Amino acid sequence: MTDTTYVGAVDQGTTGTRFIVFDHGGQVVANAYETHEQFYPEPGWVEHDPMEIWENTKSVITQALGQAGISPEQLETIGVTNQRETTVLWNADSGKPVHNAIVWQDRRTTERVEELEENGTVETIREKTGLEPDAYFSATKAEWLLEEADPIKMERARPADIRDRAADGDVLFGTIDSWLIYNLTGEHITEVTNASRTMLYNIHDLEWDDDLLEEFSIPKAMLPEVRPSSDDETYGTTDPEGFLDAEIPVAGALGDQQAALFGQTCFDAGDAKNTYGTGSFFLMNTGNEAVKSDHGLLTTIGFQRSGEPVQYALEGSIFVTGAAIEWLEDMSLIDNPSETAELARSVDTTDGVYVVPAFTGLGAPHWDQRARGTIVGMTRGTRKAHVIRATLESIAYQTRDVAEAMEADSGIEMSSLRVDGGAVKNNFLCQLQSDIIGSEIVRPVVDETTALGSAYAAGLAVGYWDDVDSLRDNWHVDRTFDSTMDDEVADARYERWLDAVDRSLDWARD
Ligand code: G3P
Repeated sequence: MTDTTYVGAVDQGTTGTRFIVFDHGGQVVANAYETHEQFYPEPGWVEHDPMEIWENTKSVITQALGQAGISPEQLETIGVTNQRETTVLWNADSGKPVHNAIVWQDRRTTERVEELEENGTVETIREKTGLEPDAYFSATKAEWLLEEADPIKMERARPADIRDRAADGDVLFGTIDSWLIYNLTGEHITEVTNASRTMLYNIHDLEWDDDLLEEFSIPKAMLPEVRPSSDDETYGTTDPEGFLDAEIPVAGALGDQQAALFGQTCFDAGDAKNTYGTGSFFLMNTGNEAVKSDHGLLTTIGFQRSGEPVQYALEGSIFVTGAAIEWLEDMSLIDNPSETAELARSVDTTDGVYVVPAFTGLGAPHWDQRARGTIVGMTRGTRKAHVIRATLESIAYQTRDVAEAMEADSGIEMSSLRVDGGAVKNNFLCQLQSDIIGSEIVRPVVDETTALGSAYAAGLAVGYWDDVDSLRDNWHVDRTFDSTMDDEVADARYERWLDAVDRSLDWARD
């Protein structure tokens, strides 16, 4: 055993939970991962079991520490990062969820959002929250749970209405950061970036918004306290009698996309990153200014350090990218995602085939809840390889949709884009991305930037790292990809992509 100390990060994502231990150089020392079950109770519905997520969190922390022979006391702090918007309600007495979590991808509240369009609340929501009203965000999910979660199942002894119980503070609301911080420390806390994804938080006044709480009939008593992403006061400490047998401060949290922005050291206005996970999330730091988008992007909170003003970001949320590769697997077109590069390379082009993976509607910049997946341009000569290549290309085209909106809103021409997430291990995809957006693509050495970002946030709060400059020094390039495609060719192909998107828009409307 040595006296070396580390920082741990829980990265709770849509498909699984990871715990990574980082050293002072920002290098990965230990890494453990477990997946959890996805529940699809009805078409378009997606749920997770919050207890399974908490059990997995404890398990991956224990596994990672064991792997590296690190004692819990060697962790100076733990940071948390998480799938955003996913909504949990739990019983304050027992700490047990009242229902499965409703996942960000879930579409059950689509009609409720359409009502908002009809009753004129949409503009108010845009102004106050920076968000484009959509079933994606937490507000309508929490509203649904307050209406529909079964009070009998919740607690037999007190069959009171769940909303009344929430008003008394007996039922609590949280996104996944909040659920994990509660379980780790016993404190009911969230932080600004996660709050900014609920559609209940005023990103200018930095408080829960009374008008929106009223619109969605959400009692304020059930909401967590909102704290900075990197909090010198710390959110709390782990229970010394708990699973870790140690009192470790939990001092930082960020929604996973903002964590990747932080982990990529995008600390200044104009810095941008794109993360390729289940979906892709392209964020640009806009400094202390909340830039309003005229091109279908979200204005969101990027991060906040203790005692400093918040930094805002523009975000392009693309719902389905990595999930489109999973779909190829589900359709038995591939056995493993790693095959896609070779199969795609086996043909020169898609032969005019376009796949628009609008499986859960389209997010930025189109925002169409009723869009559905489309394949166009097939001929009798279309082969599996064309469809696979077109699916990979859809990831790059959707990113271009957002990049164009980002340039139009910010007035900044992007010459270089930092990328991360599981899919960027795929060199073919990185090259394709560079070709299609015509910018340099930069992949860092540490591709676990999401976990790294939350480790940085927590580590800065407890003084493990002195300042952001020392974090910049930790960031190194693994590989840069430069565009090899003629601009005219890229533009012509992109134009056809836009035609294909047109075919998928509005498909599910009656
Ligand atoms: O907004 C949803 C996003 O946070 C999910 O990220 O990486 O879990 O797919 P991921």
